[in-house]
Amino acid sequence: MRKPIIAGNWKMNKTASESKTLIEQLIPLLADVTEVDVVVCPPFVNVESAAAALKGSNIALGVQNMHYEQSGAYTGEIAPSMLVELGVQYVILGHSERRQFFGETDEGVNKKTRTAIEFGLKPIVCIGETLEEREAGITNEVVCKQTKLALLGLSESEAADVVLAYEPIWAIGTGVTATADDANETIAAIRASVKEAFSGDVAAKIRIQYGGSMKPGNVSELMAKPDIDGGLIGGAALKAEDFSKVVKF
Ligand code: PGA
Repeated sequence: MRKPIIAGNWKMNKTASESKTLIEQLIPLLADVTEVDVVVCPPFVNVESAAAALKGSNIALGVQNMHYEQSGAYTGEIAPSMLVELGVQYVILGHSERRQFFGETDEGVNKKTRTAIEFGLKPIVCIGETLEEREAGITNEVVCKQTKLALLGLSESEAADVVLAYEPIWAIGTGVTATADDANETIAAIRASVKEAFSGDVAAKIRIQYGGSMKPGNVSELMAKPDIDGGLIGGAALKAEDFSKVVKF
């Protein structure tokens, strides 16, 4: 049985004090949750204060990106050891906004995934198709290729521990959600590609989230599907009440 995982991707929202307030609101709302892994991913500059606010709670701390090198002359970048020292456990990698606006490639996402694992960080690797790709009928081809490239070179146990987030790009921040059946069908295809690249055992263990306008009103329908193991939540993660409703689907 795969344990569901719901992660809030705060994107470029919330100052340090706002992050602290949101966390302080979330902690009591989610205190009784044991059957779902809960993660919040504030912006980098708020990580230290978020870690302090989360201390002793059942909510894990994640970030939205990191660099694949361990240190060095990479102006403006953040190294994995910096995150580990602050208590970060998860790192979102290859989000479509990073691929679209910051030139991230499958190769770079693979490098980051390997480095994250090396440092004991759990990667949440994002994959997803554009509207044009969906309309051209090549969704499965696109997302399975992204999956295989992201996981390239990992051992079976490393791959089984990665979290994948299937996020159709046309559904992100648009209010439009993939239907639960469509999302499940694509996620099943992604799982099949993991089986092809690794084994049935890895495919059975790897957790695959859905992301793209997941919210209190549609979460239960999506989570009822057999292949959907959780959600990566943008907009609905910015309000404590909405996020806690999603977590308690
Ligand atoms: P959304 O964002 O929930 O606002 O659509 C999801 C994401 O981009 O991770």
